[in-house]
Amino acid sequence: MLSRHTRPATTADTELKPRQVKFDWSTAPFQWIPGDAFGSHAINHFSFTLVRGELFFCRVFNQALPHVKDAALRKDVEVFIRQEGIHSRAHRDSIDQYLTRYKVDLDSNYRREMWVFEQMLADQPFGIKIPKLLQKQWLTFRVGIVAAAEHYTCGFGQYVLDHCDWEARGANHEVSDLFTWHSAEEVEHRTVAYDLYRHLGGTYSMRALIMLVLAPTFLYLMAAGTAELANSDDEAPEYLKSIYKTAFWRAWLRSTALNNIMSPGWFMTKPINFMLPGYNPVNEGNTAQAQAYISRSPGVIANGLAR
Ligand SMILES: [Fe+2]
Ligand SMILES: [Fe+2]
Repeated sequence: MLSRHTRPATTADTELKPRQVKFDWSTAPFQWIPGDAFGSHAINHFSFTLVRGELFFCRVFNQALPHVKDAALRKDVEVFIRQEGIHSRAHRDSIDQYLTRYKVDLDSNYRREMWVFEQMLADQPFGIKIPKLLQKQWLTFRVGIVAAAEHYTCGFGQYVLDHCDWEARGANHEVSDLFTWHSAEEVEHRTVAYDLYRHLGGTYSMRALIMLVLAPTFLYLMAAGTAELANSDDEAPEYLKSIYKTAFWRAWLRSTALNNIMSPGWFMTKPINFMLPGYNPVNEGNTAQAQAYISRSPGVIANGLAR
């Protein structure tokens, strides 16, 4: 194992690059995975978290850039910001051009995410001004939150690449490609946030503490967001509209058995690796597998930028 002093600033195993994408949202159905209303809404609800969350990543990383002293890491961070900006816009378009067609209530679906990313984790959380002496610590803490979130997005991405051949099973190809292309780029840039966290001097104890809080928060956001989106669907069964019904959780397990979404247990056990002292995100995903999908992604090819 490399120590903090012998490990290079960047541990990426590939050169990153941003890719524009193009999707046609004119025909995607609300239940885009045939026979799985839970899986359809569970995957689509991520768009609300990603739009707000990834803009937060970009804001925090732009603030961190002046502190990056290593040229290779700086380039990784710059491309990361551009990739996440493209991801956020692609999901915003899917909401504006696709989900709103099904009378989805934007305010109620964005509410939790705005509270987390634009109030609690703002430069001035809930309007409280951080003293100058603690501003670098507050920045490092928030980069640590991004690193923990990226552990999940990489895990989600690798799961999708390994299990979710949605399109082959008759799912809508645009939604399938949006989430599979995004998954692949999450796997591809999985090292950047954690490398930046280390470069800023982030500690092991802060990292472990962040994940202990984030793991149950993510599970709650996942369940509540799915139920919120199902509430807009007249054809979804009533039990999908409340996380307090046991049938909701049974539907989740059924969706996992169909290889459409990770299980609730996955959300609780995925953090373990992140909390191990020797954690290295490069070991959490398969870059070649990710880039193989990117090279055949219709959304990427539409812009002629496939690798
Ligand atoms: Fe992303
Ligand atoms: Fe990411």
